[in-house]
Amino acid sequence: MFHIVNTDVFDRVLLDDLCRLTTVIRTVAKSDDGARFLKDLLPTRRAMLYFTQPSTRTFLSMNNACHVLGIRSSEIRDPEVSSEVKGETFEDSIRTFSSYVDVIVMRTPEAGYAARAAALMDSIPRPVPIINAGSGKDQHPTQALLDVYTLERSFESTGGIDGKTIGMMGDLKRGRTVRSLARLMRHYRDVRLVFIAPEAFEMEPDVKAFLDEHGIVYTETRRLHETLPELDAVYVTRMQSEHDVDDESSGVNLAPFTIGPLELTMMRDDACVLHPLPRGSEIHPDVDADPRAMYWRQERNGMWMRAALFASVFGVAQEIMDAAPRFA
Ligand code: NCD
Repeated sequence: MFHIVNTDVFDRVLLDDLCRLTTVIRTVAKSDDGARFLKDLLPTRRAMLYFTQPSTRTFLSMNNACHVLGIRSSEIRDPEVSSEVKGETFEDSIRTFSSYVDVIVMRTPEAGYAARAAALMDSIPRPVPIINAGSGKDQHPTQALLDVYTLERSFESTGGIDGKTIGMMGDLKRGRTVRSLARLMRHYRDVRLVFIAPEAFEMEPDVKAFLDEHGIVYTETRRLHETLPELDAVYVTRMQSEHDVDDESSGVNLAPFTIGPLELTMMRDDACVLHPLPRGSEIHPDVDADPRAMYWRQERNGMWMRAALFASVFGVAQEIMDAAPRFA
């Protein structure tokens, strides 16, 4: 594994390995000795966090995943404070970052920039891995990983993701998390997806074509209440109004696409509710206390999964797996 620009780099073996490693890191870190062992693994490695689009969870979980493994990090979060304002090209800026660090984690408002950065790295003598932390409306591969991990954990006693029916709800058109997660479902057997979205924000044809090509069954509906009893999981997303060009989200009635106490009564007892966060009104805060609400756990899983990713990128995954019994 080198660049992580989109979900194509993952296969089932790698997904299962990363989930196992995530659990081991999460467990080892619980004891002081274990946390110190992890922190001593990569003290000579440095990471650059280049986030020119707002981020709370992804930035903090990437940064803290670095800290878990002893990786030191530097950041640019505002393009106004980088030499891009002096007219430096994107490529020259990325090349400059790569001169100082061993990995670049990046988020941009537009699609395609992580791929451009990776192509540049592949053409220079000292390339460093590029990790896409969200590329416009397109992809968010590391979020999809932590979502897979959260689903696998939630379905631990019922055989994992294989065979499950997973609802994805909200702004599916512009939500990069669902676009990446839907793609990863090709690695799980007999998964059925149910897309629940207002007409104007349905899943885009490119993702549907991908699902068709890989034989993943999906249906589309606008009737949440009818479909809730059959779902093993519902992955809720917010309206991505920052991508509006003509205020199009303000005209949409989101009420039929929300989870509140009433919807909980329609869900199975062993179902789970996920959300990449931040949330708007699509999940009522009263849902938080329900044992089926997984989004706060999902958020924390993000740090452990990203630590697993850095450990894999820097070649210490096996060392962690071998040492784990010492901290049990
Ligand atoms: C998501 C994102 O940025 O795409 N947030 C996140 O990374 N946890 C989802 C969103 O902003 O709606």
